Amino acid sequence: MRIGVFCSGGDAPGMNACVRAVVRSACGAGAEVVGICRGYQGLLDEEFFLDEDGTSRMSPRCVANLIQRGGTILQSSRSSQFRTDEGLRQAADVLTRHGIDALVAIGGDGTFRGAVELARHWNGQIVGCPGTIDNDLVGTDFTIGFATAVETATGAVDKLRDTAESHERLVLVEVMGRHSGYIALYTALAAAAEAVCVPETANDVAKMVDYFQRLRLRRRHSVIVVVAEGDESGGAANLRRELESAGCPYEIRTVILGYVQRGGSPVTADRLLASRLGEFAVRSILDGATGVMAGQQGWNLVLTPFEEAVAGHKPLPQELLELLDRLSV
Ligand code: F6P
Repeated sequence: MRIGVFCSGGDAPGMNACVRAVVRSACGAGAEVVGICRGYQGLLDEEFFLDEDGTSRMSPRCVANLIQRGGTILQSSRSSQFRTDEGLRQAADVLTRHGIDALVAIGGDGTFRGAVELARHWNGQIVGCPGTIDNDLVGTDFTIGFATAVETATGAVDKLRDTAESHERLVLVEVMGRHSGYIALYTALAAAAEAVCVPETANDVAKMVDYFQRLRLRRRHSVIVVVAEGDESGGAANLRRELESAGCPYEIRTVILGYVQRGGSPVTADRLLASRLGEFAVRSILDGATGVMAGQQGWNLVLTPFEEAVAGHKPLPQELLELLDRLSV
């Protein structure tokens, strides 16, 4: 059995830990692993990871000292060429020519949509591991990289609180999440923000300003609002204008955390999740699975069809939204 492994879409801390788990568990089971560089684009370009001995077979040793490293040694990309019919056929041809029987795809919704398309042209097995900081995939409680992104964002908000407090300011901290408020909500709770703005709920700017006025009267020195980039306002800069024209009683500053959230050494939770899911993906392939994403629900490892994993919007836990409301008085 020859298994190809690749990372695709936005990188996420823990992708390397997942690659390590795939390589070591596959080799342990007597399979061969080929690392495909730069996601689907690298597959089209036939760009394979070269081991120390110059072969494209990944050995257990080549993933030593990797679990703690952010980013991905396989690199990642978003490929428009792959999404064409010609690209898909070409990718299938590359896989066949290189004798690859199965793929472990580490990525997010775009990666799994690509896998569904590829399966129309290639009859090898494909199993996915959810690698994205967004935590927006159905079929797993958490995605690989989410916990680290929240840790990074929370640390940043803690620092911003110090300066906001000294200058009596309101800071709008924009975090990632084009369609999902998971990073924003978890960060807001962990950093004791006064409010959160997420794509899943509508903003009531007048109500927010009213609340900030009450905080001001009670001599609250600083206010932090965590804003998901996909919020209906269009992000922190727009929300700032809306709050200012509605009479916000605090001087406002905006901070966009951006790619800082995608970097850095994965936290323990991501290393464990990545290790479990990488090994489970390989085990599932050896058991004959295909077209599914490996996920963790509770402590159970489960498989979810790709179509299901990407189809629905993973809802934000209502109780956490309410908890933030109750605690940010
Ligand atoms: O990895 C997911 C994500 O971080 C989104 O939250 C974000 O909008 C997007 O990637 C941006 O990625 P890029 O600029 O690399 O395409």
